[in-house]
Amino acid sequence: MDRFVIEGGRPLSGEIGVMAAKNAVLPILAASIMAAEGETVLRNIPAIQDVATLIKLMGTMGVKAHFNADNSIKIDASGLKTFHADYDLVRRMRASVLVMGPLLARMGKCEVSLPGGCNIGARPIDQHLKGFEQMGVTFEESEGYIIGTVGELQGGKVYFDRPTHTGTENIMMAAVMARGTTEIINASCEPEVKDLADFLIAMGAKIKGAGTPYMIIEGVDTLTGVEYRPMGDRLEAGTYLLAAMATRGDIKIEGIRPIDLGLAIRKMEEMGAEITTTDSSVALRMLGRPARTDVITMPFPGFPTDLQPMVTSVLALGEGTSYLRETVFENRFLHTMELARLGADIRVQGDTATIDGVPRLKGAAIMASDIRGGAGLVVAGLAAEGITEVMRVYHIDRGYDRIEKSLTRLGARIQRVNKGEYRS
Ligand code: EPZ
Repeated sequence: MDRFVIEGGRPLSGEIGVMAAKNAVLPILAASIMAAEGETVLRNIPAIQDVATLIKLMGTMGVKAHFNADNSIKIDASGLKTFHADYDLVRRMRASVLVMGPLLARMGKCEVSLPGGCNIGARPIDQHLKGFEQMGVTFEESEGYIIGTVGELQGGKVYFDRPTHTGTENIMMAAVMARGTTEIINASCEPEVKDLADFLIAMGAKIKGAGTPYMIIEGVDTLTGVEYRPMGDRLEAGTYLLAAMATRGDIKIEGIRPIDLGLAIRKMEEMGAEITTTDSSVALRMLGRPARTDVITMPFPGFPTDLQPMVTSVLALGEGTSYLRETVFENRFLHTMELARLGADIRVQGDTATIDGVPRLKGAAIMASDIRGGAGLVVAGLAAEGITEVMRVYHIDRGYDRIEKSLTRLGARIQRVNKGEYRS
């Protein structure tokens, strides 16, 4: 089982570009199932496990999708032959539920294994189902599968009790081929939702208001395959920026829209980072120890929950006591116990972590438990003095395309080793 061995204490420096956003690519791949004709070509796609898992799942349904060496994916969905999404693949990636909207739109039926929870929370899909039911779908559960049936998806007013990122995406995909006009109320405003809408519009969909809490979608009969380059990964970019803060570095990230990082950039400046931006890049320089600050994770444009583990690592080195409140997921502090092994002083009470900054962290062996928690541990290891080993990096590989190569290009000393291959 691979692990990372990091020689910490080196400031990150240099320039790097980001790949397409995992959380845009996954719904866009699912949406490509809806093109009964024409080929879809997606570009700048990261070679990450979640993309491979979804491509495999689509293959079992008769959708041909191939990942090419130039980081493009070619998809032909004309051969879609089943509405069954198998447990063995869905259990590996809960975002597989994103095939529900496309299957209901194209086949009037879906049979999808109920996704398990994961380390960061129960992550139910009740809001997805409630949205589909408002469009005329009836559901039954059988042997761990949720089976949805609908004669013809009906447009109308669909609302969510709370903003849900993939829930909004699922309902949007169903609505683009429903009868009549659908209004979605309390929609998620995450940038990836807007990017999915732009892809669907390129395929022939009629969508207004994507990226705002209120969307209006006019149903159409057919969608066709298109060529598309999804948005740059704001979470990959945020990970590198926070790693540069933790190591007092000086880096520039290309291929990212600053607006997509919402409040995160403001909070980095509050902690003392010097940030300059263009329409498609963010540069950051960190001279001293991070200043203390308070962070509350919120849906976009609030501070993204997916950058919470990384900012925790930065604040662990901060001047003074910081308070971090996680309002999106109920169990997203697992990484704090691992940070304590590096000398961090963090106390978690309910949804709030109290972080007493320490002047330095010291390397140790630590273990990743989810994508972003693992990335947060890497950020801490890059700053810690001495050697840090991060175990179970397969969690990190689900969302980052060989993160060790990108960080090495930014001057880090990090190696992926497997049982004893470490070269000092
Ligand atoms: C998406 O997950 C992302 N995944 C997550 O990124 C991200 O952390 C999350 O949005 C929040 O931004 C993808 O886009 C593939 P939600 P999603 O539905 O859609 C509750 C990563 O590391 N909820 O917005 O599952 C839910 O339990 C991953 O890239 C319900 O109660 O998140 C959570 O507490 C991790 N019922 C909150 O809402 C529902 O039906 C937000 O969930 C749906 C959600």
